[in-house]
Amino acid sequence: MKVGIDALGVAVPSMCIDLEVLAKARGVDPLKYLDGLGTWRMGVAPLDEDTVTLAARAASMAMKSAQASPDEIGMLVVGTETAVDHSKPVSSFVQGLLGIGTRCRVFETKHACYGGTAALMMALDWIRSGSAQGKKALIVCSDIARYGLKTAGEPTQGAGAVALVVSANPRLVELDPSRTGQYASDVHDFWRPLYSKDAFVDGHYSVQCYLDAITGAYKHYKELEPTVTANDFAALAYHVPYGKMAKKAHRQLRALENDPAPDASFETQVAASLALPAQVGNIYTGSLYLALTSLLSTSARPLDGQRIGLFSYGSGSCAEFFSGTVVAGAQERVKALGLQAMLDARKKLSIDEYEAIMRAREEADVKPVETKAADDYRFLGVDSHKRTYVGPRA
Ligand code: HMG
Repeated sequence: MKVGIDALGVAVPSMCIDLEVLAKARGVDPLKYLDGLGTWRMGVAPLDEDTVTLAARAASMAMKSAQASPDEIGMLVVGTETAVDHSKPVSSFVQGLLGIGTRCRVFETKHACYGGTAALMMALDWIRSGSAQGKKALIVCSDIARYGLKTAGEPTQGAGAVALVVSANPRLVELDPSRTGQYASDVHDFWRPLYSKDAFVDGHYSVQCYLDAITGAYKHYKELEPTVTANDFAALAYHVPYGKMAKKAHRQLRALENDPAPDASFETQVAASLALPAQVGNIYTGSLYLALTSLLSTSARPLDGQRIGLFSYGSGSCAEFFSGTVVAGAQERVKALGLQAMLDARKKLSIDEYEAIMRAREEADVKPVETKAADDYRFLGVDSHKRTYVGPRA
């Protein structure tokens, strides 16, 4: 049975900051961020945008692209590590905002950046098992990545969401869930205690944990298909906390096959997947799927019918290497979403505006409800301890 990604949608906050501006304010050589990390710009969510509004906007775009009606969705899962409530899931807010029907499993998953992949795998198995009974799944990965002002992690923040409509008739990528390589390990590389909005990270150790995870997951994948080599993939998309990490991951994967020039294939196999992430930053659960979107929308090479590899990493940790085949016409469908224009339309913040937003985030969680036009998905404030949103229907 065929199964995979039928359509996708992407949302970024309406504001961003150039990393050159951040570097100058922090007294750092801008080339460290632009070349050393491989990120030029990162998304910054103003106070009326959060994990819910980003998720709803991405989901709405994916539903329109799939031409799916709300009643066709039988499973709605939001993968996030920056949820807005300890109990009520982000997915329930999204269900309400998009008018998804009541005959639906609606829940949230969490495992750092791997939470969205866990949901995707569950959706693929749900469809393959027959339990979906012809319905589709809507999987949304939505996060705001925060390490705090003047920390080493600051230039690796970001915000955004990617939504995937998953079905038995995939028009973007047919996935192979029966052959995925997994790796999990109890490590303390990155975490966010209950009392903190900002993540804590053992930065250089987290890079090593990521590389250990790709080693373990890819070895497992190759055990399931011993004849496969890295040359069998027309392209590879990795989890992208920052572009250089994807480059390190690719070098590691190639080195596992004793490639004497592990960087030589980077331009052909990986570079296109980093074009959009370099302008958005780390979006945690959605990062791998933004890399996939970037590959499909910016690759100059036709990928129709070609096999691609995907690597998901979530700190803590759990990782998965899996693969799929690009469906004919997928690149045109994703290009038609106009994502570069969406990125170009963002307001570029000054360093003072950015720092003011970062400092005010805590207060946003208790701000009284304001009235706003329902022209986009917006967080209005809190009334009787309930978060309130407005937005157009899907
Ligand atoms: P740092 O110590 O500030 O930077 O932290 P650095 O000294 O390691 O330099 C970074 C790179 O810039 C190096 O390149 C330097 O050589 C280069 P590399 O050696 O790695 O190839 N560099 C320059 N290049 C050009 N011109 C210059 C220059 N100066 C230096 N002038 C670090 C960097 C990433 C550790 C930090 O930003 C951090 O802690 N970030 C957050 C953690 C993170 O992103 N970890 C990634 C792996 S874990 C993961 O992906 C999971 C995650 O997404 C969370 C989840 O799962 O939920 C984070």
